[in-house]
Amino acid sequence: MDQRSPLLAVNRPLTVSKASVEPVADSDRDWARLVYTYAAYAAGWLVLGTTVGLYLSFKFGAPDMEHISWLSYGRLRPVHTNTVFWGWSSLALISAALYIVPRTSHRRLYSYKLAWVSLWFINIAVLVGGILLMAGINNGGQEYREYIWPVQLTFAIGIIMTAYNFIRTIADRGIEEIYISNWYIMAGFLWVIPLVTIAYMPFYQKTAISETVIQGYYMHMGVGMWFTPIALGLTYYALPKLLNKPIYSYSLGVLAFWTQLVFYTLIGAHHFIFAPTPWWLQTVAIIFSVGMIITLAAGTGNFLLTMRGSFRTVARSYSLPFILAGVISYFLFSAQGSLQALRSLQGVWHFTNYNVAHSHLTMYGFVALLAWGALYGLIPPLTGREPPHLWVGIHFWFAVIGLILYSTALMVGGTQQGLSWISGAPFMDSVRQMASFWLWRAVGGTLMYLSHLIFAYNIWRMRPLPRSAEELAAAKSGMLASAEGAA
Ligand code: HEM
Ligand code: HEM
Repeated sequence: MDQRSPLLAVNRPLTVSKASVEPVADSDRDWARLVYTYAAYAAGWLVLGTTVGLYLSFKFGAPDMEHISWLSYGRLRPVHTNTVFWGWSSLALISAALYIVPRTSHRRLYSYKLAWVSLWFINIAVLVGGILLMAGINNGGQEYREYIWPVQLTFAIGIIMTAYNFIRTIADRGIEEIYISNWYIMAGFLWVIPLVTIAYMPFYQKTAISETVIQGYYMHMGVGMWFTPIALGLTYYALPKLLNKPIYSYSLGVLAFWTQLVFYTLIGAHHFIFAPTPWWLQTVAIIFSVGMIITLAAGTGNFLLTMRGSFRTVARSYSLPFILAGVISYFLFSAQGSLQALRSLQGVWHFTNYNVAHSHLTMYGFVALLAWGALYGLIPPLTGREPPHLWVGIHFWFAVIGLILYSTALMVGGTQQGLSWISGAPFMDSVRQMASFWLWRAVGGTLMYLSHLIFAYNIWRMRPLPRSAEELAAAKSGMLASAEGAA
């Protein structure tokens, strides 16, 4: 009999003890190394990208702390956004997809070599792109497409190769149906390739309105048709697997999928409400922004109903709390976007720091939390090493509390900013009013940043086990045999 249980029932422990995962569930070490290396680079880009973000947040408090052109606000801001978009978020999502696509297709990944080459294309693009942005070499002030075209092309080649690798894996699958995760993951890949192509086509660049319309389309398709479907696709696999039960409803997943494709692709113009773009285009964007509530309800409902009755399992797991928080964020903060799109609220919030809160609540509260949940859930059974449970818990709480501080400060401050502009007060009044809110953003950002350092440490603790003596001998004899064959 467990002597501790009556005591624990009275004195609630500070932390819930977490269940360990099974030892090594997958014996393919090359696969483990591949998935892990993607996650490790993602963690590296997260730390680098948010070092820049944190530094920028300090600059709001002390704008004159240095006058080095390479570290100026205008140059570093796109380094932050592009590094966390293309380096961290993309590689983290691809890492988990490299596990999920072969797993749900009942076969090996089509080509490991191609996956390694893709990783280097993406890494080189983010590295060179960041250095060029700091040097002041960019594609103009067009958000999230500030990399010059050769850099974006390098990134695109990496993505096209990954897409090909996944398509071949799914096409040669060992079961009849295509699991819903793969619908979402492939939608992300198939959408982002034309999207980047459209965004970089030369003939409408610098032509005012057409450029603005395409910029709105690009921005929202970037977040909505690249990060969103892949993050949801991972959850359709990770959640049922970690709970050890099927997803609540396949049909709800299909409904959310198709409404996402129809509604989301029409809402880019909500970034430029009241801009000199056609009024009807803005109205269409607003209508479909509100229509997105159907997609959100179907997707979130499906995930929460899958968790129903299993909340003890969620509490006992170290990865599922990330997924629960990520799913709730998906609903709440995308719905926040639906409200923001309304003309009455755009009038207050457009151009204000409120939008920066929304960006982080979604890209962080939704995408990053789901990516962390998937990586913590999927990597240990693959590599055979678990992260320290306490440090995973600290990662979770620092990230969540940091995000709450960051975004509450900017939502309150941003609303005041908008109201101050409407009242016609001098612009500098709104800047002075924001000072304390920017300070709280830096405090929240520091907690988020610390959580990333902990995540990087946890990733290191999950590194693949070294090969056993037998495996080394087998690999060696395989190499000798192929060398003899070649001779
Ligand atoms: C129902 C879904 C959503 C709707 C209707 C929506 C709507 C909006 C609106 C109206 C804006 C503000 C535009 C402005 O005033 O400038 C915005 C900004 C933004 N949203 Fe969303 N949003 C949704 C979901 C998401 C998701 C899931 C993500 C991330 C994965 C996201 C990321 C962003 C970002 C990064 C910005 C800032 C863009 C910029 O730099 O100006 N949104 N969104
Ligand atoms: C996964 C982590 C993160 C992601 C994906 C992310 C994403 C973004 C995005 C999309 C924007 C553009 C916002 C907009 O224009 O509406 C942005 C701006 C910014 N982020 Fe982050 N961010 C992350 C973490 C952080 C952290 C930890 C900090 C630390 C304080 C930070 C500080 C900033 C700052 C200062 C800006 C510029 C805001 C402005 O120009 O007013 N970010 N980030």
